[in-house]
Amino acid sequence: MSPKRIIIDTDPGIDDALAFLFALASPEIKFEALTTTQGNVTLEKATRNALSVLELAKASHIPVVQGSMFPLVQPLRASADVHGASGLGNSKLPEPHSKPVAQHAVDFLIEKILAEPNKISIFPIGPLTNIAMAIRKEPKFAKAVRELVIMGGAIQDGGNVTPQAEFNIYVDPHAAHIVFHSGIPITLIPLDVTQKCLLRQEHIDRLLKINSPISRFIRDAVNVYLKVSYERGFEGSALHDPLTLATIIAPELLTLKEYYVDVDISGGISMGNTFADIYNITKKPPNMKVGMNVRSDDFVELFTQRMEKLSRSITD
Ligand code: RIB
Ligand code: CA
Repeated sequence: MSPKRIIIDTDPGIDDALAFLFALASPEIKFEALTTTQGNVTLEKATRNALSVLELAKASHIPVVQGSMFPLVQPLRASADVHGASGLGNSKLPEPHSKPVAQHAVDFLIEKILAEPNKISIFPIGPLTNIAMAIRKEPKFAKAVRELVIMGGAIQDGGNVTPQAEFNIYVDPHAAHIVFHSGIPITLIPLDVTQKCLLRQEHIDRLLKINSPISRFIRDAVNVYLKVSYERGFEGSALHDPLTLATIIAPELLTLKEYYVDVDISGGISMGNTFADIYNITKKPPNMKVGMNVRSDDFVELFTQRMEKLSRSITD
């Protein structure tokens, strides 16, 4: 089967960077471009980090296109509390030599998707601002996107940025509302499954047996994430963003359910809450497939094996 063509829309971010590496290590995927947004860090840092990680992985041929500096309505949130001041934990990647494409990500997405309708899937793994702006700017965009595979939301799990809201949705809930009601085929990968897929110290120790800038980057980037994860009672750091790629690489590991899902934009205490009509009370048709279970040990093993393969291919 020919590799699936994807664009990743991202706010790198430690687990975002792991998702780039996972895509690069996976022949099932043709990683066509990377569009950036604010979220874990500011847009400037997100773009720099994207360029630096691709350079580390010898993948600077992949275009990086800068997008939204602010959410649609909410104030900018980008905070250093989880991903560190740089956004990539304690890793010290050199300033990138490559530059972003001289076009706004929203225009890039519209141009690329309309040029080849229903051929390219977009993987938003940060706030959905760029995607919402493309939907609003170009009415033909929604019908031309093959699929969105979104890391975001929490259905039966609690939130990770407020007790009711997951970070990507909370940062720009209005964008999520536009995207969820756009009619684009959506697969949502929420905290319910991503928080079961934990990269633990034993996996990092395994990678460090390989003398590679990739394995050392993963150690330096993830150790900040690990500390926050332990403080929250987890035994490892959640592979939130990389899990979206399991929909291509190993779909058998995910249990997807079709639900009508909406997001609270009423501005109160549950702002950004994502809820599924599990018992079809509203009688509204499902608007997405939702990851509700995962063979987590198998996924983490698959991820680790692909990181070992990538580390062996990029040595000092
Ligand atoms: O809630 C997890 C999500 O928020 C991940 O995409 C992480 O990178 C942050 O953006
Ligand atoms: Ca992210």
